[in-house]
Amino acid sequence: IEITLQLLARFGVQVQREGWRAFTIAQGATYRSPGEIHVEADASSASYFIALGALAASAQAPVRIEGVGAHSIQGDIRFVDAAQAMGAVVQQGPNWLEVHRGRWPLRAIDLDCNHIPDAAMTLAIMALYADGPSTLRNIASWRVKETDRIAAMATELRKLGAEVIEAADSLTVYPLRQVRAAAIHTYDDHRVAMCFSLAAFHGLIDGLSAPQPLRILEPRCVAKTFPDYFETLFSVARAEVADIPVLTIDGPTASGKGTLAAEVAKALGYHLLDSGALYRAAALAAQEAGLDAQDEAALAALAAQLPLRFEPGRIWLGDRDVSEAVRREDIGALASQISAHAAVRDALRQRQLEFRRLPGLVADGRDMGTVIFPDATLKVFLTASAETRAQRRHKQLISKGISANLDTLLQDLKARDARDQSRRTAPLRPAQDAQLLDNSALSIEASVQQVLVWWAQRRPFK
Ligand code: DC
Repeated sequence: IEITLQLLARFGVQVQREGWRAFTIAQGATYRSPGEIHVEADASSASYFIALGALAASAQAPVRIEGVGAHSIQGDIRFVDAAQAMGAVVQQGPNWLEVHRGRWPLRAIDLDCNHIPDAAMTLAIMALYADGPSTLRNIASWRVKETDRIAAMATELRKLGAEVIEAADSLTVYPLRQVRAAAIHTYDDHRVAMCFSLAAFHGLIDGLSAPQPLRILEPRCVAKTFPDYFETLFSVARAEVADIPVLTIDGPTASGKGTLAAEVAKALGYHLLDSGALYRAAALAAQEAGLDAQDEAALAALAAQLPLRFEPGRIWLGDRDVSEAVRREDIGALASQISAHAAVRDALRQRQLEFRRLPGLVADGRDMGTVIFPDATLKVFLTASAETRAQRRHKQLISKGISANLDTLLQDLKARDARDQSRRTAPLRPAQDAQLLDNSALSIEASVQQVLVWWAQRRPFK
C-alpha cells in the first residue's frame, strides 16, 4: 500500500488517508507525468548481494548494486539498515548501493523483522558469520510462505553444523563453529536457495576447520524471482580453481563420450567442454588456410590465435557458425593428425583450462583426465569395442543421410585409435585412477546413471 501511495504521489495524485482504515482520492484527480521515472529493481533480490558485500567485499572493490538505493520505496530496502547494524559499510545514491565488509566478524543482532520478512532470511545466514547468537523476532509469517520457512531454515542450518533455536515466531542462530559438507534442501522456495548460497563463504570465518562444499538442491526454484541468480553470483564471486569440481570422460572415437558428457553435464548443471571440438576447429581452420598437416609450427600458431567461441550446442569461428562443419569425417581425421603435435596441444591447453568455472565442469576428450585436469574428482574412461563404435558411427551417418560403409569405417576407426594411442604427447590411455566403463551393451541412460552414481560416491554429501 505504501508503494502504491508513493507511486501515486510521484504521478501527482495525493491520497488522503486515515491510517490503514480508509484512503480517499479526490474526484477528478488526474495523473501528471513526472517526466522521468526510475523503475526500481527488486529490493529483496538485492539483499543477497548486500550480504555478499558485507561478508566478502573489500573497500577497494565493493559490490555495486544497481537499480535500488536511497530513493527506493520498497519495504525490503530496510534490509540495508539491518546489514549496517551487523557491520556492513553501505554507500548509496538514488538508485544504487555499494557495499563492503566493515566490522568482522559481523555483529550479532536481535531484531524485530516484521517489516522485512523476506529479506530477513538473508540475516539468518549472515548470523553464521557473527560474533554471537542473533535472534530474528516477529517472523511468524515465515511459517505460511512458500514453505514453513522457520522450520526449513532451522533444519538446513543444522545440516551445515550450526546451532539453532527455533520458536513459534522467532529464530536464534549461533555463529558457525564447525562445518559439515551439506546438501541443502530448498523446499521449492527461491529464498531458501538464494540465502543458503551465502553460506558457501564460510571459509572466511576465522578458526573454522577446512571449508566444505555446499550443494543447493533443485536450484532452479530461484526462477520464481531471479532466474539467473547463480550466474549473477558466479559473475562476482570467484573460487579457487582447485575447488571447482571436474568430471572427465575420455575415450576413443565414437565411444559415445560426447553424448554421455553432455547428459551428465545437464544433470549436474555443470559447464561442458568438448575438447575434440577445439582440435576439430583447428583442423578446419588449417584445412581452409591450406596448411600442411606436418607443419607443426604453423599449425600451433594458427591454433593459438583461433577466434573460437563456444555457445551451448554451437561453435563459432569468427562470425561463422562451424558447428556442422567440424563434425565432418575428413575434419575428424585431420584433427587426429594435427593433435599429435605437442606444440598444437600446448596452444590449445589454456583454452581448455578456462572452461573450469563455477559451479563445475564435465570435460570429454582423450587426455582430460591424464593431462588437462589430472586433479579431476572423477575420471571415466570409455572402452566400447571398435566393432560397436563402428556400428554406432555407421548408424549416425546413415541417419544424417550420408552414405557409409561399415568395413571402411571400422578400418578408419582402428587407424585413428592406433594414432591417438601411439602418439608421443598425451597418448590416449586411461588415467591410473580412471573408472573404466564399457558401454557397448549399455543404453545412454544407463551409462549416465552409472557415472552419476560414481560421482555421488566421490562427493562428500550424504
Ligand atoms: O573426440 P573427437 O572425435 O571430436 O576428436 C577429434 C580428434 O581430436 C581426435 O581424433 C583426437 C583429437 N583430440 C585429442 O587429441 N585430444 C582431445 N582431448 C580431444 C580430441
